[in-house]
Amino acid sequence: MRLFDSHCHLDDERFNEDRAEVIAHLQEKGVTRCCCVGSDLPSSHRCIALAKEYDFICAAAGVHPHEAKDAPADYLDQLRELLQDPCTVALGEIGLDYYYDLSPRDVQKRVAQEQLELAFEMDMPVIFHIRDAHGDMYEILRARGKKLPAGVIHCCSASPELVREYLKMGFYISFAGPVTFKKAASVVAASLEVPLNRLLIETDSPYLTPVPLRGQRNEPAFVRYILEKQAEIHGVSTEELSEITYQNACDLYNI
Ligand code: NI
Repeated sequence: MRLFDSHCHLDDERFNEDRAEVIAHLQEKGVTRCCCVGSDLPSSHRCIALAKEYDFICAAAGVHPHEAKDAPADYLDQLRELLQDPCTVALGEIGLDYYYDLSPRDVQKRVAQEQLELAFEMDMPVIFHIRDAHGDMYEILRARGKKLPAGVIHCCSASPELVREYLKMGFYISFAGPVTFKKAASVVAASLEVPLNRLLIETDSPYLTPVPLRGQRNEPAFVRYILEKQAEIHGVSTEELSEITYQNACDLYNI
């Protein structure tokens, strides 16, 4: 069985003590690929450096809504360069986060829109982070009409209705640890809307540790708990779903 953790943050400082060890054990735990996703320019650089060091790691570069307020004036030029690196497979993570509101909303929107335009221009898939902001994000996407890049709604928290709209826009839908939590009814309902050929699995590690490992630091190897939960929700075997989600991630990231 091969697993693709489509979204993790192996560059995070919580891996500083034992990063090489965590990565060294990934393949024996079945994780044969993972995408290390940037949240600002420095972390995007770190993700690309990891992807250069390990050929089963690929990278995404982008500015997260939390960091939007600190993006330097020339961030789009810097990002364009990072996206041209052969190790970079996507632009992300980008989007809107009105739960934490760490950047002013108008700045979040501007930085998301600018990066969306860059992705479209460069024909790069986008990794979307959307929290408590699906109304505004959907409006931004809808207003672009057919000018939409490929992409994935990461750690999806949208309603089943919105999931259907995102699917119509051609996006993949990805689920992380929350789908395993006790109060996951709405996430499970959203997941049931997603046809298997548009479903991705991810850890978002070191965040969002799945049940039954809550309280521990999350790591890419734990993506098998997401796989097991999704296989149960969709009534398919873990072997079948691991292969499907692996291929979906390769298709999205053009690997
Ligand atoms: Ni993330």
